[in-house]
Amino acid sequence: MSDITFHVKRFDPESGAPPRYEDFVVDVQGSMTVLEALFAIQEKQDGSLAFRYCCRSSICGSCAMYINGRYRLACQTNVLHLGVPTVTVEPLPHVPVVRDLVWDMDDFFAKYEAIKPWLIRNSQLPDTEVTQSPAERHKLNMPIDCILCAACYSSCPSVWGEEHFLGPAALLKAYRFEVDSRDEAGKERLPSWDNERGVYRCHTITNCIEACPKELSPTEGIQWLKGSAVRRRLLGRKK
Ligand code: SF4
Ligand code: F3S
Repeated sequence: MSDITFHVKRFDPESGAPPRYEDFVVDVQGSMTVLEALFAIQEKQDGSLAFRYCCRSSICGSCAMYINGRYRLACQTNVLHLGVPTVTVEPLPHVPVVRDLVWDMDDFFAKYEAIKPWLIRNSQLPDTEVTQSPAERHKLNMPIDCILCAACYSSCPSVWGEEHFLGPAALLKAYRFEVDSRDEAGKERLPSWDNERGVYRCHTITNCIEACPKELSPTEGIQWLKGSAVRRRLLGRKK
């Protein structure tokens, strides 16, 4: 066990005061995560501390935060493994903060919805399963692991500079469905990402890869989409 100081960024819009940092000392035991430390602070020191969480097992993406200068999931971050006496906890940067560590995800999810994140089928569904070959399924391995935590979105300078840019998470999701052998969207989803607020705003800066706590590559998906747009326009291909 050891006393670790949590240097937490606080913000209360109703107070009219600017954001500030507040220190809390937590007796960290064993494999305690940063999320568990935030619970300890909330339960024993300051019940007004606001943060978002849900699954506590790195699959819902709710607790993405900026911890000691890196994008991390609070529930996946073992405090003692950080190896420092002070842990700085901040909300994701470059996004609108609502209170303390909670930010407004409305724009993020509006952009996500814009790319029609579902399988589009135009043909009659067969009576049996719509199967995929191992090679077809393999193409989904990377993008389906996205948990919509928005770390990549927060890290992308193109998002910072252009508020309408869909961003890496939405575009990775577009890739996930465009590359799916069962999807029959054809040109239906194309206008959502093949435009000036879509793939062409990505300048291959690759911050999104470094930020992703699931070690995914939105860049890879976006590059595929750019190639697909060229193949469709110049070669008349379907994808
Ligand atoms: Fe989070 Fe990675 Fe998905 Fe971006 S690509 S939303 S960083 S899991
Ligand atoms: Fe942004 Fe990633 Fe492209 S950081 S510019 S979406 S490669």
